[in-house]
Amino acid sequence: MLLEINDLHVYYKSYWYILKVLNGVWLRVDKGERVGIIGESGSGKTTLLKSILKILPQNGIIPRGEIRYDGKNILKLGDNELTKIRRKEIGIIFQDPMAALNPVFTIKEQLYDIIKHKMMIEGHNPSSKELHEQAVKILNDVRLPDPERVLKSYPFQLSGGMRQRVMIAMALISAEKLLLADEPTTNLDVTIQDQILKLIHKLVTEKNLSTILVSHALGMVYQMTDRVFVLYAGDIMEEAGTNELFNHPKHPYTQLLISSTPRLSSVGVGEGIKGKIPDYRNPPPGCRFAPRCPYVMDKCINMKPGKIQVNRDHVVSCYLYD
Ligand SMILES: Nc1ncnc2c1ncn2[C@@H]1O[C@H](COP(=O)(O)OP(=O)(O)O)[C@@H](O)[C@H]1O
Ligand SMILES: [Mg+2]
Repeated sequence: MLLEINDLHVYYKSYWYILKVLNGVWLRVDKGERVGIIGESGSGKTTLLKSILKILPQNGIIPRGEIRYDGKNILKLGDNELTKIRRKEIGIIFQDPMAALNPVFTIKEQLYDIIKHKMMIEGHNPSSKELHEQAVKILNDVRLPDPERVLKSYPFQLSGGMRQRVMIAMALISAEKLLLADEPTTNLDVTIQDQILKLIHKLVTEKNLSTILVSHALGMVYQMTDRVFVLYAGDIMEEAGTNELFNHPKHPYTQLLISSTPRLSSVGVGEGIKGKIPDYRNPPPGCRFAPRCPYVMDKCINMKPGKIQVNRDHVVSCYLYD
């Protein structure tokens, strides 16, 4: 087991209130496994990925829970060890490359910096020739034509698709063990989305990387992952092998999510799920999906259901299967 998360709670504090977002999340990733996380916008997917690297915003707190990565408890590690993990073991691709790239530095300066810091951790101070070789190699890896020109460019001089490739390159430098991809294609043209997802898929397969892919593109999650976790309003509603999950979804939320995605279902009409994510200031005390659930029962409203094992590789948090 490479990563195992248990009972993770994450809150965001403001002066006036506390948002209780993650509500006891569990997750696990085996070595070499490709895991998908699906769920509507606002469910806490980005919060979950940021918790793994301990890069939550200032007002984010973790009152309870455990994140075990490679035998270590991430939440208890010191800054030095965390820095090492962020530079050399776990890489992250964010949704918005413009926010992740620094506008005032060239791609060369930013890539060199990341490569240099990683090599220093390995006990080696690279020459500029080595840095250049590594940078060109990594740009070739992400199929960026004319790496020399890319290196000289500032982020705004590149197209959205090229910037995203640069960010993938940067994430890959650090992702020797685990790659986190947070909706890596959301801001791109549809035609380029497909290319970028295929590129990520190819690279993680070549490098045998463990991956967590967060994506709205359910079809891509279906094709690119081995196991899927369904997150709704800060709770894991269901976990199963990818085929099992998409072909035999058990939780009403998962069923609605899949049937409202037209390309994945013959009955889907693409109208989404009625209602909206609850207010995190005062979330429902029982199942957080209860207010929107077509099968809601009395007990759903009062007490959160536990994990119910429906078969060998399939867990659901729903009283319908109790
Ligand atoms: N820094 C923050 N302060 C307050 N609330 C936040 C902050 N970051 C995220 N949130 C809230 O947490 C909830 C989950 O957000 P997020 O993790 O981004 O969900 P997702 O990635 O699934 O769309 C949302 O309601 C969002 O508004
Ligand atoms: Mg997000």
